[in-house]
Amino acid sequence: MSPKEIYMDNNATTPIHPEVKKVMIETMDVFGNPSSLHASGRQARQLVEEAREEVASFIGASPEEIMFAGSGSEANNTVLSAVTCQRKQCAYHQEGVNEIITSTIEHPCVLEASKCLQERGVNVLYLGVDEYGKVSLEQLRDLLTERTGLVSVMMANNEIGTVQDIKGIAEIVHERGAVFHTDAVQAVGKIPVNVRELDVDFLTLSGHKMYGPKGIGALYVKKDAPFCPLIRGGHQERGRRAGTENTLGIIGLGKAIEMRSQEMKSDEKHLLELKAALKKGIEENIPDVLFVGHPTDCLPNTLNVSFEGAEGEAIILYLDLEGIAVSTGSACASGSLDPSHVILAIGLPAECAHGSIRISLGRENTMEEIAYMIDVFPRVIGKIRDMSTVYKRRLQ
Ligand SMILES: Cc1ncc(COP(=O)(O)O)c(C=O)c1O
Repeated sequence: MSPKEIYMDNNATTPIHPEVKKVMIETMDVFGNPSSLHASGRQARQLVEEAREEVASFIGASPEEIMFAGSGSEANNTVLSAVTCQRKQCAYHQEGVNEIITSTIEHPCVLEASKCLQERGVNVLYLGVDEYGKVSLEQLRDLLTERTGLVSVMMANNEIGTVQDIKGIAEIVHERGAVFHTDAVQAVGKIPVNVRELDVDFLTLSGHKMYGPKGIGALYVKKDAPFCPLIRGGHQERGRRAGTENTLGIIGLGKAIEMRSQEMKSDEKHLLELKAALKKGIEENIPDVLFVGHPTDCLPNTLNVSFEGAEGEAIILYLDLEGIAVSTGSACASGSLDPSHVILAIGLPAECAHGSIRISLGRENTMEEIAYMIDVFPRVIGKIRDMSTVYKRRLQ
């Protein structure tokens, strides 16, 4: 029997940190509208601005450069639609700029937003990736032209954990006069991120990937970066995003980030130890496995592994019966039977994509849970492979 439910799907979402929960419960009664001038409005405003300072200082930005959004997806959509604004009357319309560059392994919220821009006449170019999921800086140099308005490349991939050379990419993009956005939803809170050191123009983060609440994200907008709001209306968020602020979500995000600044370093060490033990346990106990992603430039919590002759969905269901929660690909793509676009982009065959699972560890996981996982895993894979005539035939 499993000790309890073992949650190893932290790239899909994380449990709320106890301190975040405490603060959110305590501030549940702060109902004032942060735009109101009376005391209850001012109280809400103060808490929102404290959270903004917390977010800004964690990533090396100024508070005025932080815009709160309804999610990481919304923040990403905002950037993509802003920089290539086709409305001539928009103050940020850049004449002659009608092209964006992104990568083939982005989260669906970037890929779908790019597709939508393409349908509206924007030229969209895609950077391919190597066998580890790294984009090529050479290819980026070749693709950039004076027509390119924006380059958007994620900092860390949600499925395989590969971390890109964001500073190197920003340097090349700026040499050609374009602006650079990075979707850092999976990176912020797991690895150090400093917007000034990386020299990015836009950066996205999301509360529920770092032990904060769902439905709250933030966008770093560098001072003077071209910008055009996605949501129009009131003057909230310095006119960058209309709508009464999600006060409670913002307070929760602020607290989650405060906790990350205290715990990220020790968590990173803990996660690397767990991941190394899990990888070793799989390697030593299960034949015909392939670890996917960069061996070193990788998130400390993410292990993507493909099992020959075993379907990812079957593995998930069998592990679930044993009390272990992992996933295939991204949470948004699970539920679809299409093979992962990330695994296909790195050049692995569709069978590998179908047999791959993502184990994403979190701060609450323990060595005891890893030991349980290593005990259960070979049995589960063996059971599934026993049902695979293709795999059995290959062994004969
Ligand atoms: C890399 C990446 N970008 C963006 C998102 C979307 O964030 P949210 O769930 O806050 O919309 C996710 C969520 O899975 C993600 O992993």
